[in-house]
Amino acid sequence: MGFVKENNRTIPKEDKVFAVSGRAKAAIAAKGKDTVVDATIGALLDDNAELVVMSSVMEAIGMLKPADYAAYAPIAGVPEFKEAVQKALFADYAPKGHVAVCATPGGTGCLTHAVANYTNKGDEVLTHDWCWANYKGIADEHGRSLKTFRFFDEDGNFDSADLKVKLDELAAKQDQVLLMINTPAHNPTGYSLTNEDWDKVINVVNAASCKVVLFVDIAYIDFAGEPDEVRSFLPKLEGLGTHVLVLFGYSASKTLTAYGMRCGATVCLAKTAEEAEEFTKAVGYTSRSTWSNCNRSAQVVMGKIYSDDALQAKVDEERRMYRDMLLERGRIFESTLKENGVTPVPFTAGFFITIPSDKPDEVCKKLEEQDIFCLALAKGIRVSIASISKEKCVKCAKALADLLK
Ligand SMILES: Cc1ncc(COP(=O)(O)O)c(C=O)c1O
Repeated sequence: MGFVKENNRTIPKEDKVFAVSGRAKAAIAAKGKDTVVDATIGALLDDNAELVVMSSVMEAIGMLKPADYAAYAPIAGVPEFKEAVQKALFADYAPKGHVAVCATPGGTGCLTHAVANYTNKGDEVLTHDWCWANYKGIADEHGRSLKTFRFFDEDGNFDSADLKVKLDELAAKQDQVLLMINTPAHNPTGYSLTNEDWDKVINVVNAASCKVVLFVDIAYIDFAGEPDEVRSFLPKLEGLGTHVLVLFGYSASKTLTAYGMRCGATVCLAKTAEEAEEFTKAVGYTSRSTWSNCNRSAQVVMGKIYSDDALQAKVDEERRMYRDMLLERGRIFESTLKENGVTPVPFTAGFFITIPSDKPDEVCKKLEEQDIFCLALAKGIRVSIASISKEKCVKCAKALADLLK
C-alpha cells in the first residue's frame, strides 16, 4: 500500500547517482581503489581517493566554543557570518547597491529561497539546458517547472540568441521570470561564462519586457580559477536595468571543502533599500517555515576565517593548492580526450566535465565493465574529475574516447 502523494512530482524509484556510486563502492571493496575509477563523487578527493579536508579550516573549527555549536543562530545568520559571506563572494569588488544576506543550509537552500519567493505557483523557471538535476527537483517540489534555453550553439558558443527567444516567450505569459545561471565552473559541463557572454546576458535581460530575477549560482567559484579573474564579471552587473534584481547562491561546501557543514547564503544585490528589505523578509519567512535557522557553528567558522587576515590567507593558500590540482586534472582530461578525437561539452574549469552522447547509458555500462564509473545524463556522460587522480583522468578519457569516436 502506498501513502505518499506525488503532487505532480516524479519521485524516482531509485536515485541514479546513489545507485552508480553504490556499484563503484562495491567494485572498490572487491578489487581495491587503485583498479577502480570512481568518477561519480561530487566532492574533491586527493590523488589517493581520500576526501580533501583543509587543515586550515579544521584549525578554525578547533577554535569553537561549546555555545557556538549549541545555540540557535538568527534566521539570517550571525552578523560575523553575513560579513564573511560578502567578503567571500565579492572579494575586492565593492558592490554598488543594497546588499542583504540570508543563511541557508548550503547552496541548495539558495535555490529554494529563489524559487519560493521570486516565482508564482505554476510559473516556469528559466535555466540552461545542461543543469544540475536539483534545479528541476526544486522547481517541481514548489509546483513550478523548468524551461531551458540552449546553453551552447552549434559552434560551441554561449547561445544568447536562444536565451533571448526563451526569455521573450516567458515574458509573454509571466510578469516576472526567474533566470538561473550557474557559473563559473558550471555543473555538469565545467563551463564559465566569459565576460563577453555576460555582456550578452545583460543585453538580453535588459531588453526583456518583464521583470527578471537573475540568480547566479556561484557554488564552484573558488575552484574556477584566479579569485579576481573569476569575479571579473561582477562590475558588469551594474549595467542591469531597474527591472532586474540580482541574487547570488553562495555555498561554503566547496569553498571550505566542508560539504557536511551545510553552510551557504542567498545574497541579494538590489538597486533599492526597499527591494533588499523585501528580500530579507521573504527569504526569512521561507527559512523559518522550512529548515528554520542554520548551522551556527559553521557560521562562526566562516566568521573566524574571514575576519582574520592571517587565517584567511592560510585557507586561501591551502585551497589554491587543491584548486591547481583540480585545474590540472581538467586540462589533462580535456587534452587526452581531444588527442583521441573526442570533444567535450565546452569546458573551462571545475569539478566536472561532460562528454556529449546519444547513448549515455550504454556507454556508461561499457565503462563499468572496465571498472570506470561515470554518471549517465540525458544527453551525455558526466565525469567527476574532482574525485579522480590525473592518471585516472587519462585512463578514463581514453576509455571514453575509444567508446565514442
Ligand atoms: C550547481 C550547484 N549549485 C549548488 C549546489 C549546492 O551545494 P550544497 O548545497 O552542497 O552547498 C551544488 C552542489 O552540488 C551544485 O552542483
